[in-house]
Amino acid sequence: MVSNQIEAPVRKLMGPGPLEIHPRVYQALTTPIIGYLDPAYLKILDQVGDQLRKVFQTRNRATNAAPGTGTSGMEACVANLIEPGDKILVCVHGYFGDRLRQMVERQEAEITLITEEWGRPIDPQKVEAAMKANSFKVITLVHAETSTGVLQPMDDIIKLADKYGVMIILDTVTSLGGVEVKMDEWGLAAAYSCSQKCIGCPPGLSPVSFSDRAVESVKNRKHPVRSWYLDISLLEKYWGSERVYHHTSSSTLNYALLEALRMIEEEGLQNRFDRHLENHRALVAGVEALGLEMLVSPEYRLPTLNTIRIPEGIDDMELRRYLLETFNLEIGGGLGALKGNVWRVGLMGHSSSAANVLFFLSAISRALALQGHKTDLAAGTDAAMSVLNA
Ligand SMILES: Cc1ncc(COP(=O)(O)O)c(C=O)c1O
Repeated sequence: MVSNQIEAPVRKLMGPGPLEIHPRVYQALTTPIIGYLDPAYLKILDQVGDQLRKVFQTRNRATNAAPGTGTSGMEACVANLIEPGDKILVCVHGYFGDRLRQMVERQEAEITLITEEWGRPIDPQKVEAAMKANSFKVITLVHAETSTGVLQPMDDIIKLADKYGVMIILDTVTSLGGVEVKMDEWGLAAAYSCSQKCIGCPPGLSPVSFSDRAVESVKNRKHPVRSWYLDISLLEKYWGSERVYHHTSSSTLNYALLEALRMIEEEGLQNRFDRHLENHRALVAGVEALGLEMLVSPEYRLPTLNTIRIPEGIDDMELRRYLLETFNLEIGGGLGALKGNVWRVGLMGHSSSAANVLFFLSAISRALALQGHKTDLAAGTDAAMSVLNA
């Protein structure tokens, strides 16, 4: 007997992503699909491009949503801007910086690596020393490191890249739509993100933007781009005025993305950043009043992804299994070097709400108590409320 129902539970998603999505976005997913060259669909793709330009704060023509998840955007930026023998400055301060490093390596580029302890940002002094000593084509950097909860300060690095004429590839997977990203003002060459985090959609699309200078540099490559699928010159022929078939674009996902982007416009970018910051501050106040410790020092904390140190003696797997089974609550565990050391609590897009902050504090307090670690829940919720009421 074949079941006609898909057995997927409804979860409260407070991990690193995917996050909960708004009913309006679910509704958009049920819009009838149409062909990838239907004039009505091309109009929708144009609207997606226009809306993404607002979120990236850019006028870049080459801006739209690439097929695939955030990793696809990462691959697109790396494969287009980097070719064999290029000198590239790669910054790694977490799991995703290292994924970038692996991709750059596969392009057979000449890598200079800057590393930082996980939980700390990249030190601009190291960037300056490297740029003084070498002439780089590109620097790769993660703006919001989802593995550690660090928001990379951009000011110094932007100035250095400008001074030394180095193109910046920036990973904005956990920042775009939740934290300020100023593509043009920062002079970024290429940036990519994902649909499933702060933008508030299902996974499956990867917003990307390439500056005119970056697009020009792709035209002047010695070797063809090693990814046919993600070659920006070919994607541009579909997204731009030529309308040449490139791939069977998912109308379903683009409908959802457009609806989510419209919701961002309705809320207003600044209001949205303020909401993410306030809920983050409330969560931190609550967590600290429960006697738990954040991994990252206050000045570098990422408002969209909170990393909390796991207290000694707590069984991480057991606790997260309990949260999932008892409260239907998903939070993330540590990745790579932080595996078993931290919890990752996402407050992004529709999931960034006061209700979720309070729910998390109650659930974690109960889960800790079951393992003999007593916390003062009233103190935690009071501290969170004092931020939310402020
Ligand atoms: C900072 C960062 N970069 C890249 C990725 C890869 O994105 P995806 O899993 O959507 O392919 C992620 C995923 O969480 C991420 O957090």
